[in-house]
Amino acid sequence: MIIAPSLLAADFGRFAEEARRAERSGAEWLHLDIMDGHFVPNISFGPAVVQSLRPLSRMFFDVHLMCSRPEILLESFAKAGADCITIHVELGDQVSSLLWKIKSMGKKAGLAVNPPTAISMAKPYLSQVDLLLVMTVNPGFGGQSFIEESLPKVQQAEVWRRQKNLKYRLEVDGGINFVTAAECARAGADTFVSGTGLFGQRNMKAAVRKMRSIVTAQSADRVK
Ligand code: DX5
Ligand code: ZN
Repeated sequence: MIIAPSLLAADFGRFAEEARRAERSGAEWLHLDIMDGHFVPNISFGPAVVQSLRPLSRMFFDVHLMCSRPEILLESFAKAGADCITIHVELGDQVSSLLWKIKSMGKKAGLAVNPPTAISMAKPYLSQVDLLLVMTVNPGFGGQSFIEESLPKVQQAEVWRRQKNLKYRLEVDGGINFVTAAECARAGADTFVSGTGLFGQRNMKAAVRKMRSIVTAQSADRVK
């Protein structure tokens, strides 16, 4: 089980301290939301921020590109220190070549599926990905409510993973708190992005510990 606090919910005036806070919390991954003001109606931060955090942190940098033209950004994020780069299946024709490009730079490749998009859209790419991200809110903003209709998509992605004997991580992102994380773990998720649910807590370490123990218990129940 991997817990990935999302820096989008951090204090933007104190990225360095916030990244250290995430690392001290015991979470393994730092989720970095990149928004271009076009694919989603918001702008976050770019490769320079990722690059400046890289020497301060040993966490796995999970870069989520919510961008219409990721091809012009992949190299910058790879050089900035991303460990995994996730693009969106909604980009259509370009998906396969983008995934290939990410892998060719020596990075893990992720594929994200928005709430209105059928999970079947991701099926042709499953053998190419290290991570499948089922969005559980419409991307663009932190602090939104979890969309329950996403759960069958997580279940389907887990069934495919088992049937095809694939190893991709199954990540959920958006509205993840202790309750919704448990629901997602029961459905088969193993990687939990949470912005306001973790950065919003005064004691992030306790929150990470609690989320981890909840999802671990749920997934143990699921395999029984
Ligand atoms: C949504 C982003 C999420 C966001 C989640 O557009 O992709 O990663 O940071 O924030 P919360 O956990 O607050 O819903
Ligand atoms: Zn995200």
